[in-house]
Amino acid sequence: MLVYVPPHPLVKHWLAVARNAATPTPIFRSALAELGRILIYEAVREFLPTVDGVIDTPMGPADVTCVDPMRPVKVIPILRAGLVLLEQSATLLPASETYHLGYVRDDETLKATSYLNKLPAQFQPDDLVLIADPMLATGGTMMQALQEIVSRGADPANIRVVAVVAAPPALKLMADAYPGLKVYTAIIDAEVNDKGYIIPGLGDAGDRAFG
Ligand code: PRP
Repeated sequence: MLVYVPPHPLVKHWLAVARNAATPTPIFRSALAELGRILIYEAVREFLPTVDGVIDTPMGPADVTCVDPMRPVKVIPILRAGLVLLEQSATLLPASETYHLGYVRDDETLKATSYLNKLPAQFQPDDLVLIADPMLATGGTMMQALQEIVSRGADPANIRVVAVVAAPPALKLMADAYPGLKVYTAIIDAEVNDKGYIIPGLGDAGDRAFG
């Protein structure tokens, strides 16, 4: 499984803002939104299908390459915090469809439970799927989401996961089950504590984003 951390100063900057406990909710949200935009840009670099054509510029014809409107990326935010990652991305992908998944993790057992599933009944193996969730901690949430998505026909090799902070327990589970998966994240943190928080992480992303 590829885990890519873009070596970009803006990624480091917005991660620093998001990590800071003193960052207020509106700024925390904009930091996550900026990170989402940058990470999605990286995640689709060699992923988006294109079509070639000829258009008329004011000065005459020009060969052009455009994103294929017939192959929209299937964007799947994991609620709640995944929504924030997509806030600045509506104009980034010329063709996309959004399917929401909602999971909440039990504070004691750390087990994730689904409360919303708007996935289509079936994906095609060549569908391009992009999952957004800022935190990959124990990995329980993402593993359930991947299982739902792959069981509907998506090919793990055509799935990209965009996160902000990824921890080793989640990455190991994901890599073992889906070696062809690709993950784009701002940082790989060292550990998950016994309460399920990534250390140092950025706290509870959902609560910090939505209060
Ligand atoms: C958080 C986070 C991930 C999940 C990660 O969501 O946004 O979805 O926990 O934990 P895991 O890898 O150990 O499963 P949470 O359940 O707090 O919901 P929220 O986004 O609505 O706050």
